Amino acid sequence: MSKNFPTITTEDKNALADRLASSRKYCQVEIPRETLLDLIDKAAQTHHGLKEIEEVVRRKLHNLVAPYLGDPDYEALQALIPTLPQRLDAPDVKEFCLRVLNAHSSTRERVPINEEFYKRIFALTGIPAVVLDLACGLNPFALPWMNLPPTCQYLAYDLHQPRVQLIDAFLRHFGQAGAACRQDILVDPPQTQADVIFFFKEAHRFEQRETGATRKFLDYLQARQILLSLPTESLTGRRSMLEQDRALVAAACDGKPWQVEELLFSTEIVFCIRKTI
Ligand SMILES: C[S@@+](CC[C@H](N)C(=O)[O-])C[C@H]1O[C@@H](n2cnc3c(N)ncnc32)[C@H](O)[C@@H]1O
Repeated sequence: MSKNFPTITTEDKNALADRLASSRKYCQVEIPRETLLDLIDKAAQTHHGLKEIEEVVRRKLHNLVAPYLGDPDYEALQALIPTLPQRLDAPDVKEFCLRVLNAHSSTRERVPINEEFYKRIFALTGIPAVVLDLACGLNPFALPWMNLPPTCQYLAYDLHQPRVQLIDAFLRHFGQAGAACRQDILVDPPQTQADVIFFFKEAHRFEQRETGATRKFLDYLQARQILLSLPTESLTGRRSMLEQDRALVAAACDGKPWQVEELLFSTEIVFCIRKTI
């Protein structure tokens, strides 16, 4: 690949971003404009011609939005929220949350270990006053298993608008402090000070989007404790990913004065990265 490609014009970039945003596949997702432009800019640095750039961007976008991991019926769930009791430990609420968690493979895999997962995590980190859940997917629906006080600020970030809306309605219904925010955390990493940051099962896709992105990202974040998790097996369950997971985190933390501790679960490994800020 030559590095001296003619760049595409700003008009071309905007037209491509419009086309992607309004396409049948992505119009409901309402991907932030900065995400589309970032993908287009990066593809234009290494690929030639509009057609080729569009192919690369579509491939990256598919990987980023990952529709193959599953989606619930957002509208139907949103309509149910006001009918739920307002206690996170109510059986109907837990049943509702399980329905949501089971709709996406990242959270579905965690359902059998939810109780143990958060118990071990908070035993290590202490009970946080502020949590950022970055690239959260549907994970905030695990709140009934987290046992956090309602005063804990739970700030959830994702680029998928229907998910963000549903999470925000959920947090408000239960009077949980915090909010859900539609933001591309790679282009615009949150700078809010937090006690604990969750960055679950997304770092490998971050690296596919931009090699070395996790290292830069960890550097930006303003938290003493970052919990980065990765799946221990491939999606098909045929291949162990542990070695690859540890290599990703070792490269991201190499040369930094950070301590890394591992929590191993049946389907997921959590790296607790302690920074001094
Ligand atoms: C594989 S799911 C992981 C969900 C969750 N962290 C968990 O482990 O249950 C990835 C989620 O991250 C979101 N995502 C991917 N890249 C993102 C980015 N740059 N900024 C914000 N959200 C992102 C996707 O929309 C999706 O909801």
